[in-house]
Amino acid sequence: MTTILGLSGSLRRASFNAGLLRAASECVPDSVEIQIGSIRDVPLYDADMEGESGLPAAVQTLQEQLAAADGLLLVTPEYNNGIPGVFKNAIDWMSRGPGLELFVGKPVAVIGVSPGGFGTILAQNHWMPVLRTLRMRPWVEGRLMVSRATPLFDGDGNLTDAKTREQLAAFVAGFIGAL
Ligand code: FNR
Repeated sequence: MTTILGLSGSLRRASFNAGLLRAASECVPDSVEIQIGSIRDVPLYDADMEGESGLPAAVQTLQEQLAAADGLLLVTPEYNNGIPGVFKNAIDWMSRGPGLELFVGKPVAVIGVSPGGFGTILAQNHWMPVLRTLRMRPWVEGRLMVSRATPLFDGDGNLTDAKTREQLAAFVAGFIGAL
């Protein structure tokens, strides 16, 4: 079984990005699982907290999930033309303790969705120096920037647009092929 850890960088209930990740998890062959991790319970990074009590439980869980995964799929919103703080915060925590080793050499792909016209292109670019610093292996042969999202999702954030599903399936298949 090939396993991909999928993380969405939004905490919003009807998040487009969380919906895109759910749709990705539905379009994989039986031999592949996209495990959906959660950044919800990751506290703000605090070096004093880390020094006094070590890594929070939510971070340890994410690290265990990353260790068990063959690849990482980041589904990123874009805030002010960059990475949302809550998402970067989770990755920063995950890189602590034994964390950095878990990232090194691991294939990673970045996708994202926004209601605007540019579909998270700047947030996706913003991830690149971070992934380089973590010494990951970004898969860059495919690109998926879902723009003008509102009519493509239902009110619960589920992807309903068939064309976007096809594009997503092609992207995910390409990434799986590179693992
Ligand atoms: C945004 N949004 C946004 N969208 C975009 O395409 N480019 C941007 O720079 C920004 N900037 C931005 C800043 C802040 C603080 C917020 C809260 C929002 C809109 C954003 O794409 C939209 O809220 C999405 O719905 C967020 O993704 P989820 O929560 O639907 O996954």
